[in-house]
Amino acid sequence: MGVASAHTPSISVERLTKFEHNDLGDLSDAADAAIEAGGGFGWVKPPPRHVFEAYWKGVLLVPERVLFVGRLDGAIAAAAQLVLPTRNNEAQAFSAQLMHHFVAPWARGHGLAKLVTLAVEQAGRDKGISMINLDIRETQIAAIQLYEGLGYTRWGVHPHYAKVDGRMIRGFYYHKFLSPEAEADSLSETAQMNPGDAP
Ligand SMILES: CC(C)(COP(=O)(O)OP(=O)(O)OC[C@H]1O[C@@H](n2cnc3c(N)ncnc32)[C@H](O)[C@@H]1OP(=O)(O)O)[C@@H](O)C(=O)NCCC(=O)NCCS
Repeated sequence: MGVASAHTPSISVERLTKFEHNDLGDLSDAADAAIEAGGGFGWVKPPPRHVFEAYWKGVLLVPERVLFVGRLDGAIAAAAQLVLPTRNNEAQAFSAQLMHHFVAPWARGHGLAKLVTLAVEQAGRDKGISMINLDIRETQIAAIQLYEGLGYTRWGVHPHYAKVDGRMIRGFYYHKFLSPEAEADSLSETAQMNPGDAP
Protein backbone atom coordinates (compact mmCIF):
# COMPACT_ATOMS: atom_id res chain seq x y z
CA MET A 1 0.00 0.00 0.00
CA GLY A 2 1.40 3.43 -0.95
CA VAL A 3 1.85 6.28 1.48
CA ALA A 4 0.33 9.63 0.42
CA SER A 5 3.06 12.26 0.06
CA ALA A 6 2.51 15.71 1.55
CA HIS A 7 1.97 18.22 -1.22
CA THR A 8 3.07 21.82 -0.77
CA PRO A 9 0.84 23.86 -3.08
CA SER A 10 2.39 26.50 -5.28
CA ILE A 11 1.00 30.03 -5.03
CA SER A 12 1.30 32.90 -7.48
CA VAL A 13 -0.30 36.24 -8.22
CA GLU A 14 -0.85 38.13 -11.47
CA ARG A 15 -2.74 41.02 -12.96
CA LEU A 16 -5.55 39.62 -15.09
CA THR A 17 -6.41 41.45 -18.32
CA LYS A 18 -8.33 38.66 -20.08
CA PHE A 19 -9.93 35.37 -19.14
CA GLU A 20 -8.32 32.25 -20.55
CA HIS A 21 -8.99 28.53 -20.19
CA ASN A 22 -11.05 27.98 -16.99
CA ASP A 23 -10.28 31.40 -15.45
CA LEU A 24 -13.79 32.85 -15.52
CA GLY A 25 -15.39 29.73 -14.04
CA ASP A 26 -12.63 29.29 -11.45
CA LEU A 27 -12.86 32.95 -10.39
CA SER A 28 -16.63 32.72 -10.04
CA ASP A 29 -16.36 29.41 -8.11
CA ALA A 30 -13.77 30.92 -5.74
CA ALA A 31 -15.85 34.07 -5.14
CA ASP A 32 -19.00 31.97 -4.69
CA ALA A 33 -17.31 29.86 -2.01
CA ALA A 34 -15.90 32.95 -0.25
CA ILE A 35 -19.34 34.58 -0.14
CA GLU A 36 -20.97 31.38 1.16
CA ALA A 37 -18.30 31.26 3.89
CA GLY A 38 -19.12 34.74 5.16
CA GLY A 39 -18.50 37.05 2.27
CA GLY A 40 -16.75 40.28 2.85
CA PHE A 41 -17.05 41.92 -0.50
CA GLY A 42 -20.54 43.28 -0.92
CA TRP A 43 -22.58 40.21 -1.72
CA VAL A 44 -24.29 38.49 1.17
CA LYS A 45 -25.47 35.60 -1.04
CA PRO A 46 -23.76 34.53 -4.29
CA PRO A 47 -25.54 35.91 -7.38
CA PRO A 48 -26.63 33.60 -10.23
CA ARG A 49 -23.68 32.42 -12.30
CA HIS A 50 -24.49 34.48 -15.42
CA VAL A 51 -24.69 37.64 -13.27
CA PHE A 52 -21.36 36.82 -11.65
CA GLU A 53 -19.61 36.17 -14.97
CA ALA A 54 -21.01 39.42 -16.38
CA TYR A 55 -19.71 41.22 -13.29
CA TRP A 56 -16.14 39.90 -13.73
CA LYS A 57 -16.14 40.71 -17.44
CA GLY A 58 -17.31 44.21 -16.52
CA VAL A 59 -14.46 44.65 -14.06
CA LEU A 60 -11.95 44.14 -16.88
CA LEU A 61 -13.65 46.91 -18.89
CA VAL A 62 -13.45 49.62 -16.22
CA PRO A 63 -10.29 51.67 -16.82
CA GLU A 64 -9.80 52.55 -13.13
CA ARG A 65 -10.08 48.94 -11.96
CA VAL A 66 -7.04 46.66 -11.90
CA LEU A 67 -7.90 43.02 -11.22
CA PHE A 68 -5.41 40.75 -9.49
CA VAL A 69 -5.88 37.03 -9.07
CA GLY A 70 -4.09 34.56 -6.87
CA ARG A 71 -3.56 31.01 -8.07
CA LEU A 72 -3.15 27.83 -6.05
CA ASP A 73 -1.53 25.13 -8.14
CA GLY A 74 -2.43 27.13 -11.25
CA ALA A 75 -6.17 27.58 -10.59
CA ILE A 76 -7.63 30.95 -9.61
CA ALA A 77 -8.47 30.86 -5.89
CA ALA A 78 -8.25 34.53 -4.86
CA ALA A 79 -8.77 38.04 -6.16
CA ALA A 80 -8.51 41.71 -5.28
CA GLN A 81 -9.08 44.97 -7.09
CA LEU A 82 -6.97 48.12 -7.05
CA VAL A 83 -9.35 50.98 -7.77
CA LEU A 84 -7.52 54.05 -9.03
CA PRO A 85 -8.92 57.58 -8.72
CA THR A 86 -10.93 58.83 -11.67
CA ARG A 87 -9.15 61.42 -13.85
CA ASN A 88 -11.34 64.28 -12.59
CA ASN A 89 -10.39 63.49 -8.98
CA GLU A 90 -7.21 65.57 -8.87
CA ALA A 91 -7.46 66.14 -5.12
CA GLN A 92 -7.20 62.40 -4.41
CA ALA A 93 -4.92 61.46 -7.28
CA PHE A 94 -2.31 60.22 -4.77
CA SER A 95 -4.55 57.50 -3.28
CA ALA A 96 -6.27 54.33 -4.44
CA GLN A 97 -8.65 51.76 -2.92
CA LEU A 98 -7.98 48.09 -2.29
CA MET A 99 -11.36 46.37 -2.69
CA HIS A 100 -13.13 43.07 -3.09
CA HIS A 101 -10.28 40.98 -1.71
CA PHE A 102 -10.97 37.33 -0.92
CA VAL A 103 -9.44 33.88 -0.92
CA ALA A 104 -11.60 30.78 -1.44
CA PRO A 105 -11.96 28.87 1.86
CA TRP A 106 -10.16 25.80 0.48
CA ALA A 107 -7.11 27.91 -0.47
CA ARG A 108 -6.66 29.82 2.80
CA GLY A 109 -3.63 29.67 5.06
CA HIS A 110 -1.04 29.35 2.28
CA GLY A 111 -0.05 33.01 2.08
CA LEU A 112 -2.16 33.88 -0.97
CA ALA A 113 -3.85 36.92 0.60
CA LYS A 114 -0.52 38.40 1.66
CA LEU A 115 0.97 37.80 -1.80
CA VAL A 116 -2.04 39.44 -3.50
CA THR A 117 -1.99 42.46 -1.14
CA LEU A 118 1.72 43.04 -1.75
CA ALA A 119 1.16 42.83 -5.52
CA VAL A 120 -1.66 45.39 -5.30
CA GLU A 121 0.57 47.73 -3.30
CA GLN A 122 3.43 47.39 -5.81
CA ALA A 123 1.06 48.11 -8.69
CA GLY A 124 -0.04 51.24 -6.82
CA ARG A 125 3.58 52.39 -6.45
CA ASP A 126 4.22 51.68 -10.14
CA LYS A 127 1.27 53.95 -10.98
CA GLY A 128 2.55 56.78 -8.78
CA ILE A 129 0.09 56.12 -5.94
CA SER A 130 1.40 56.89 -2.44
CA MET A 131 -1.51 55.72 -0.28
CA ILE A 132 -3.89 52.75 -0.21
CA ASN A 133 -7.27 53.03 1.52
CA LEU A 134 -9.56 50.15 2.41
CA ASP A 135 -12.58 49.40 4.55
CA ILE A 136 -13.81 46.21 6.04
CA ARG A 137 -16.56 44.71 8.18
CA GLU A 138 -15.60 44.38 11.83
CA THR A 139 -16.48 40.67 11.61
CA GLN A 140 -13.68 39.88 9.12
CA ILE A 141 -11.16 38.94 11.80
CA ALA A 142 -8.63 37.23 9.51
CA ALA A 143 -8.58 40.20 7.14
CA ILE A 144 -8.13 42.63 10.02
CA GLN A 145 -5.09 40.60 11.14
CA LEU A 146 -3.80 40.49 7.58
CA TYR A 147 -3.98 44.23 6.96
CA GLU A 148 -2.78 45.31 10.40
CA GLY A 149 0.11 42.85 10.03
CA LEU A 150 1.02 44.53 6.76
CA GLY A 151 1.10 47.98 8.36
CA TYR A 152 -2.37 49.37 7.66
CA THR A 153 -3.53 51.97 10.22
CA ARG A 154 -7.14 52.01 11.40
CA TRP A 155 -8.26 55.62 11.37
CA GLY A 156 -12.02 55.37 11.70
CA VAL A 157 -15.06 53.28 12.55
CA HIS A 158 -18.36 53.49 10.70
CA PRO A 159 -21.13 52.55 13.16
CA HIS A 160 -23.65 51.61 10.44
CA TYR A 161 -21.45 50.06 7.74
CA ALA A 162 -23.24 46.93 6.54
CA LYS A 163 -26.40 44.96 7.22
CA VAL A 164 -26.08 41.17 7.20
CA ASP A 165 -29.02 38.89 8.14
CA GLY A 166 -30.81 41.89 9.61
CA ARG A 167 -27.90 42.82 11.88
CA MET A 168 -26.05 46.13 11.56
CA ILE A 169 -22.28 45.67 11.48
CA ARG A 170 -19.59 48.29 12.07
CA GLY A 171 -16.94 48.99 9.45
CA PHE A 172 -13.25 49.69 10.03
CA TYR A 173 -11.41 52.16 7.80
CA TYR A 174 -7.68 51.80 7.13
CA HIS A 175 -4.93 53.56 5.23
CA LYS A 176 -1.31 52.77 4.45
CA PHE A 177 1.42 54.97 3.01
CA LEU A 178 3.25 53.10 0.26
CA SER A 179 6.66 54.52 1.23
CA PRO A 180 8.27 56.17 4.29
CA GLU A 181 8.96 59.23 2.11
CA ALA A 182 5.26 59.59 1.24
CA GLU A 183 4.38 59.39 4.93
CA ALA A 184 7.02 61.99 5.92
CA ASP A 185 5.92 64.37 3.13
CA SER A 186 2.27 64.05 4.10
CA LEU A 187 2.96 64.61 7.81
CA SER A 188 5.02 67.76 7.12
CA GLU A 189 2.34 69.10 4.74
CA THR A 190 -0.34 68.43 7.37
CA ALA A 191 1.75 70.24 10.02
CA GLN A 192 2.11 73.27 7.72
CA MET A 193 -1.65 73.32 7.06
CA ASN A 194 -2.56 72.88 10.77
CA PRO A 195 0.26 74.55 12.76
CA GLY A 196 -1.90 74.51 15.91
CA ASP A 197 -1.80 70.67 15.96
CA ALA A 198 2.02 70.55 16.11
CA PRO A 199 3.36 69.17 19.41
C1 LIG B 1 -8.74 37.42 4.93
C2 LIG B 1 -8.36 36.40 3.87
C3 LIG B 1 -8.28 37.11 2.51
C4 LIG B 1 -7.00 35.76 4.25
O1 LIG B 1 -6.61 34.84 3.22
P1 LIG B 1 -5.38 33.79 3.40
O2 LIG B 1 -4.85 33.46 2.06
O3 LIG B 1 -5.80 32.67 4.25
O4 LIG B 1 -4.30 34.67 4.21
P2 LIG B 1 -2.73 34.39 4.27
O5 LIG B 1 -2.47 32.92 4.31
O6 LIG B 1 -2.05 35.18 3.21
O7 LIG B 1 -2.37 34.99 5.69
C5 LIG B 1 -1.88 36.30 5.81
C6 LIG B 1 -2.19 36.83 7.20
O8 LIG B 1 -3.61 36.94 7.39
C7 LIG B 1 -3.93 36.71 8.77
N1 LIG B 1 -4.79 35.54 8.86
C8 LIG B 1 -5.06 34.65 7.87
N2 LIG B 1 -5.95 33.74 8.32
C9 LIG B 1 -6.24 34.06 9.60
C10 LIG B 1 -7.11 33.52 10.61
N3 LIG B 1 -7.86 32.45 10.34
N4 LIG B 1 -7.17 34.14 11.79
C11 LIG B 1 -6.43 35.23 12.06
N5 LIG B 1 -5.58 35.79 11.15
C12 LIG B 1 -5.50 35.21 9.96
C13 LIG B 1 -2.61 36.47 9.49
O9 LIG B 1 -2.16 37.73 9.95
C14 LIG B 1 -1.72 35.97 8.36
O10 LIG B 1 -0.37 36.22 8.57
P3 LIG B 1 0.57 35.07 9.24
O11 LIG B 1 0.42 33.87 8.35
O12 LIG B 1 1.93 35.68 9.19
O13 LIG B 1 0.02 34.86 10.61
C15 LIG B 1 -9.43 35.24 3.80
O14 LIG B 1 -9.60 34.71 5.10
C16 LIG B 1 -10.77 35.71 3.25
O15 LIG B 1 -10.98 35.68 2.05
N6 LIG B 1 -11.70 36.12 4.13
C17 LIG B 1 -13.07 36.54 3.72
C18 LIG B 1 -13.10 37.79 2.86
C19 LIG B 1 -12.47 38.99 3.49
O16 LIG B 1 -12.48 39.19 4.69
N7 LIG B 1 -11.90 39.86 2.64
C20 LIG B 1 -11.21 41.06 3.08
C21 LIG B 1 -11.82 42.36 2.80
S1 LIG B 1 -13.09 42.58 1.68
